[in-house]
Amino acid sequence: MTQQTLTITTPDDWHLHLRDGDALKAVIGDTVNQFRRAIVMPNLRPPVTTVAMAARYRDEILQALAANGLSDRGFEPLMTLYLTDNTTAADIEAAAQSPFVHAVKLYPAGATTNSDSGVTDLLGRCQVALAAMQRHGVPLLIHGEVTDSHVDVFDREAVFIDRVMHPLRKTYPELKVVFEHITTKEGVQYVRDADGPTAATITPQHLLYNRNAIFTGGIRPHFYCLPILKREVHRQALVEAATSESPRFFLGTDSAPHAKHLKEMACGCAGCYSALNALELYAMVFDAAGQLGRFEAFASHRGPDFYGLPRNQSTITLKREPFKVPEYIAFGESTLVPLAAGETLPWSLSHHA
Ligand code: NCD
Ligand code: ZN
Repeated sequence: MTQQTLTITTPDDWHLHLRDGDALKAVIGDTVNQFRRAIVMPNLRPPVTTVAMAARYRDEILQALAANGLSDRGFEPLMTLYLTDNTTAADIEAAAQSPFVHAVKLYPAGATTNSDSGVTDLLGRCQVALAAMQRHGVPLLIHGEVTDSHVDVFDREAVFIDRVMHPLRKTYPELKVVFEHITTKEGVQYVRDADGPTAATITPQHLLYNRNAIFTGGIRPHFYCLPILKREVHRQALVEAATSESPRFFLGTDSAPHAKHLKEMACGCAGCYSALNALELYAMVFDAAGQLGRFEAFASHRGPDFYGLPRNQSTITLKREPFKVPEYIAFGESTLVPLAAGETLPWSLSHHA
């Protein structure tokens, strides 16, 4: 008989953009409805580069929860620092001692939204910070794309593996590394076979869509994110990895809200908004692969295990009942178009226990 419900340990989102100000207030409730914890990306303007800034950002998130009447939901923001060429060993030591900072994020300079202060030469400029991270067990979260304009945009992840991941691992064999939002079969192979503590997050859009989605009958800006969607063969490799028994692949939505008008323009912003319906989208992937039984490991176990945090105690239940994704939702003065807007999904989230 077809499985009708799926009850799992409450999941966490291991890669999330919450923004700040009014945008934060508009989106925080969606994540709280789906997840108990989230690794919060530091690419604000200016970026969150110190523990003091992370503390202020965390307070702002807690205030946004309060303003939305969500303080009693037990949601925990897991903060990150933004690595720069100037990050010091003292910055890393402070992060390691902080109860709420859980990782440091590498954005190669110019790779994506708000990455102008990113790292220009990881192995040349960040030795002190990387050595301190390895020593203190602070994970490095990597946006793994080269920024060299001579490299084809669809090849930037694969080239990054050769140019950065291999030498990084060789120099820092014990560094905890999360290859964020992997999008290619090369990324899957690298993470599966790498030495040392290595893991990867995978987004719903890269599991559900290939690059045709960006160009179906015209240009579809709501499928534009970075790293960009790839060929079908890569999507299939990602599905295989997510639904495999490997503990190295886990959930990270990379939900990245941009107002509708800033995506639907001549130079539209990169990012898909999936916080509204992430679990419904991921459930489709595991169901289609005949692997609903492995969804809990991907969504709720492997992430905390890798980060050395306890698994959540509560559960959530998904039901095989149609969920109509709205065409758009409110976003301050503007609107936000969720991933799979207007589609009816086969699974819906029924309650939080
Ligand atoms: C992210 C954003 O908008 O902050 N955009 C995206 O396409 N994923 C930045 C990022 O994670 O690359
Ligand atoms: Zn991201």
